[in-house]
This record gives sequence, C-alpha cells and structure tokens, in this order.
Amino acid sequence: MTKPRIAVYPGSFDPITKGHEDLIRRSLGFVDRVVVAVAVNVAKQPLFSLEERVALIQETVRLPGVEIRAFEGLLVQFAREVGASVIVRGLRAVSDFEYEFQMALMNRNLDPKLETVFLVPAFDLTYLSSSLVREVARFGGDVSALVQPVVQEALKRKFQR
Ligand code: PNS
Repeated sequence: MTKPRIAVYPGSFDPITKGHEDLIRRSLGFVDRVVVAVAVNVAKQPLFSLEERVALIQETVRLPGVEIRAFEGLLVQFAREVGASVIVRGLRAVSDFEYEFQMALMNRNLDPKLETVFLVPAFDLTYLSSSLVREVARFGGDVSALVQPVVQEALKRKFQR
C-alpha cells in the first residue's frame, strides 16, 4: 500500500472565505488528505477567537479527507506531526508574492523535505481576503458572495452594536 499523500493548508482563517474553501477543494485534487491548520498565534489581534475560527471552518467545510486542526509554534513542526509532505498556499496577486516567497524559502530552510505548493484561486475569488471581508462586514456591507451564510451570521453578531 502506498503512503497517503497529506497536505497542510495553514492560515489565520479570520474568518474562512469562499477563497479558502476553493483552495481546499483544489488541494483534494492532488492529495489524499488536507489538514487545515489554524494558527493560534496570529500576529495581528484576530477578530474571531481560535475556537470560533475552527468552528466556522468545521461548519463550512464538510468534505471527506479534510481535517481541521489548531496549531501553535512552527508550521514545519506541525506538518511533521501530521505526516504532511506538502504545504499549500494560495497566490492571488503579485502583492502576495514577496511574503509567500519568503515564507516558502524559510520553511524549506527549516525542513528541506517539505514542499510548498502555490495554488491559483478561482478567477472570481482572486481579490478576496479575510481582511477585506472583515472591513466590508464591519461597515454593514454585503459579503454574501464571499463567505458562507454561517460566516456571514457570525460577522453580523461580531459587529452588532
Ligand atoms: O493566513 P495567514 O495569516 O497569511 O497565515 C500565515 C501563517 C499562519 C501560515 C504563518 O504565519 C505561519 O506559518 N505561522 C506559523 C509560524 C511559523 O512557522 N513561522 C515561520 C514560517 S516563515
């Protein structure tokens, strides 16, 4: 029997958007399992707590082969723990490139066997980001095309005054 191919898909997921969902689905096209790795230590103060971010992904993504886990510390360490050989990241625009390139090289430096794979999101989700979703929702804008209803409701509750 061949070893199952496992990818980690790390991020802040604050909150999960349809762009993230798209990449999870695309990843399942070339690996057997995807571990969605929700970072505990998000540099910026997140809008949603770790528990809320994990719960929103669980409610949004119900696909065989997808596992949702929180992780703390180095991503390469977590990847090793779950037996992943691939890190999946999305590349939306040129503006993502510098940060992503730095991160990929640093992760390779830390673990040369772990390969970073960049995926291109669906065309209509290219300019989507959690930070834009938060900003639009904060001011009462419509984010229904960008996130699942459960996320939309959670955003509404957060910004209720
Ligand atoms: O969704 P984000 O905020 O762009 O995700 C960034 C994340 C969580 C993937 C990145 O900050 C990370 O991997 N953090 C874990 C700490 C780590 O391993 N840092 C070294 C990688 S350069």
